[in-house]
Amino acid sequence: MMKLIKIAAVLLAAASIQVLAEKAATADKKDTLEERIKPAGTLCMSGDDCAAAPVQAAASGEPRSGQTVYESKCATCHATGAANAPKYKDAGAWAPRIAKGMDTLYTHAISGFNGMPAKGLCFDCSDDEIKAGVDYMVEHSK
Ligand code: HEC
Repeated sequence: MMKLIKIAAVLLAAASIQVLAEKAATADKKDTLEERIKPAGTLCMSGDDCAAAPVQAAASGEPRSGQTVYESKCATCHATGAANAPKYKDAGAWAPRIAKGMDTLYTHAISGFNGMPAKGLCFDCSDDEIKAGVDYMVEHSK
């Protein structure tokens, strides 16, 4: 009888160790799972401190000047004439383009034209900012 109780106690002990071990393992797994599915960035809602800077920038919403647009976006190709882009300040290259009329140049700058990518790859530029960039280049390339 004593022997049976002893065996039962050992089995019980073994079983509870097993249960504890599994619990620990599950907790471990849960931790790493939570770690893995954690959002990459913390969500920033408008009104939160973390959102203050971008919200302010959007609120002041000053459109970029033609010069800023040109220098930050268009110059990549138009300063060097890469891919046969008409070069900034190259009156000869610009004259036949200017002859097409500003509306055509605006449309081509916004929608793209052969090697000229739509919006000159400035995807966050408004149409007006692109037009300002065209004006700036044309103004200095006559
Ligand atoms: C990736 C290079 C690249 C960038 C960046 C780029 N352009 Fe161009 N652009 C070109 C090329 C190439 C042409 C010549 C296309 C042709 O005539 O076949 C061109 C032509 C133009 C023309 C003349 C279109 C016509 O009808 O003759 C305008 C206007 C123009 N780009 C404006 C801009 C403005 C404004 C930006 C910046 C917002 C810009 N481009 C950025 C490559 C670029």
